[in-house]
Amino acid sequence: MLTAQPITIKVQKTLQTRIGEIDFNDLHFGKIFADHMFVSDYKDGEWIDSRIMPYGQVMMSPATSALHYGQSIFEGMKAYKNDKGEVLLFRPLDNHKRINLSADRMAMPSIPQEIFMEGLKQLINLDQQWVPTTEGASLYIRPFLIGTDEYIGVKPSDTYRFYIITAPGGAYYNEPVKVLVETNFIRAVEGGVGYVKASGNYGRSLYPTKLAQQRGYQQIIWTDGKNHRYLEESGTMNLMFVIDDVLITPPLGDTILAGITRDSVLTIARDWKMKVQERKISIDEVIDAHKRGTLEEAFGTGTAATIAHISLIGFEGKDYELPPIENTIFSHRVSKELDNIRKGKAEDIHNWMYKI
Ligand code: COI
Repeated sequence: MLTAQPITIKVQKTLQTRIGEIDFNDLHFGKIFADHMFVSDYKDGEWIDSRIMPYGQVMMSPATSALHYGQSIFEGMKAYKNDKGEVLLFRPLDNHKRINLSADRMAMPSIPQEIFMEGLKQLINLDQQWVPTTEGASLYIRPFLIGTDEYIGVKPSDTYRFYIITAPGGAYYNEPVKVLVETNFIRAVEGGVGYVKASGNYGRSLYPTKLAQQRGYQQIIWTDGKNHRYLEESGTMNLMFVIDDVLITPPLGDTILAGITRDSVLTIARDWKMKVQERKISIDEVIDAHKRGTLEEAFGTGTAATIAHISLIGFEGKDYELPPIENTIFSHRVSKELDNIRKGKAEDIHNWMYKI
């Protein structure tokens, strides 16, 4: 099993747990936060003062640099309980790697593995009662790093704060999503920051998504910034299709986030000897497959939703309905397999699970 080096973390426990206020049978995503949070500061080139404290409001100067110039990055991950009540994290070391990739691109300092992992471990251990066991639920974990200089000149901050907060939550999407292929706005361009988890990537998506929602879609499919023909991501997720029994997803690059769920789905598909292609896929190819009746499945993959089934794709004023979701075989099977691995019910052949 993977272990992290111990670091000293001061712990100030809450005097009054809020766990009694939670209805674990009626959990929504991201609205209620567990009792504690982890915090660590970066100053003079060093990480200092790692601590766990009661979750609560934070005081900050209105001149805090992250608020003005977006030195703000985050991760999303989940904790589950197995039948013995042990808490398991899914691929946390991959999240650690990715937050440092994001940090590098945004001119922020790396977070040492022992701070990330030990912070996570001690925080989740302390709040383990908050890890739901109800069907479809988990403890969503949000590590994030922000520049904290009290300075509004444009430059990388000299000081930073790393937080981990957690929220028990249910499904991100309660039903299959209708998506609109976006051909005016773009999410990411080559040379940009689309491959990292920078907060600004999400902020810039809100307006185009709002316009799509006004037209009756829940999410958009992002297209390439040059010609708007190649499909990139769906909403906040990676995008996959099953066409003629082949699993196809856009290749990683500057404009695509290296999703951990994306990688897990591709790995499982390969384990199952399914044909997998990481390659460019255009809207024309998808519509053509739809016309020929070979477009079997379309779905998004991400930490929050795991698998988000797509029921309809809108493009240039026409809606293309996908085969009924109940009939989709691969996305249901892989979703179940991931669920079983995360809850310790299926063999973890890739060593993805990290026991707290
Ligand atoms: C994910 O599912 O991986 C996400 O990033 C969604 C999150 C922004 C809620």
